[in-house]
Amino acid sequence: MSELRQRLEDAHSAGLATIAQTTDLKSLEDARVRVLGRKSALSLARQGMKDIAPEERRDVGQLANSISSDLEAALEAKRAGFAAAETKERWQRERIDVTLPGVQVPNGSLHLLTQVLWQIIDIFIGLGYKVAEGPDVEYSRLNFDALNTPYEHPSRSPIDTFYIAGQGEDVCLRSQTSPMQIRAMEASEPPLYVICPGRVYRRDTVDATHTSQFFQMEGLAVEEGLTMADLKGTLEIFARELFGKELDVRLRPHFFPFTEPSAEMDVRCFVCKGAGCRTCKGEGWIEILGCGMVHPKVLEGVGYDPEKVSGFAFGMGIERIAALSNGIADIRILYDNDLRFASQFKGLA
Ligand code: DAH
Repeated sequence: MSELRQRLEDAHSAGLATIAQTTDLKSLEDARVRVLGRKSALSLARQGMKDIAPEERRDVGQLANSISSDLEAALEAKRAGFAAAETKERWQRERIDVTLPGVQVPNGSLHLLTQVLWQIIDIFIGLGYKVAEGPDVEYSRLNFDALNTPYEHPSRSPIDTFYIAGQGEDVCLRSQTSPMQIRAMEASEPPLYVICPGRVYRRDTVDATHTSQFFQMEGLAVEEGLTMADLKGTLEIFARELFGKELDVRLRPHFFPFTEPSAEMDVRCFVCKGAGCRTCKGEGWIEILGCGMVHPKVLEGVGYDPEKVSGFAFGMGIERIAALSNGIADIRILYDNDLRFASQFKGLA
């Protein structure tokens, strides 16, 4: 065998050995340069072709070409193997299980108090009432005086009401939403149908049924010819809408400075239907609000003529209603911000 043939055969076997040693696509690229590149043993041997006898050239040329294609084929086989391995590895690494449950994003919902308040507001909007909101920091004139509350009334005592420091007893945290009656009447002429939801504040010792701040909703209707019958009819519709269609209600005489006559409204206990139970404390009835015909002095005070117009008013505590209608024994839990409790009431989104 000629020397050139020998060099080609050597380049062939050395090339195959180099290719066989590669371990990945990167080392395979290096091997390609070393085995087939310009300075490879194969290329150098080929350059020797010009020095051999012309009759030998064709065979040696063929040999060089077949060695070259064989090395190409070996490189390609390796490349395909590495590529397949890499694809397989990537599939493993990036594999996702589309049947796995997704990450749960917790859904918020309205607090029970907001739900109950909105439900009540909805009922009165349906009856044609407008919603008016007023300040939590209120003039004592509106919280007490204009509501016909005498100076010696116990609710005016700083033991019961929070007064704002530096204002004497002229400015307080409103102890009721009733001052909104005055604001509403001072702001417009009758006829007037408004409800006024909002926070109120009292210096009560906190216990299962009292907190130092809570929500009330006030209602006020003023028009020519309104009577106690309108008051009762309105509140009966409201209570039945809220607690159930068949519910019995009753008005019980009471006293409030700003209404005359005044009453408290009871509903038949919706737990025991009147037989007597823990919720109604054996009474068969549950008190849910205070109400009455707007006192003539209150109407006069805002410049309305009590000979011409009359009105009725009512006020209710939202925590109390929410607690009663949901079997909540201690209203403090409404403010604990404990999701185990709060998330039990997902009625409204
Ligand atoms: N403001 C009263 C309270 O906080 C509730 C109340 C009673 C409001 C009678 C009224 C009413 O409008 O007519 O106890």
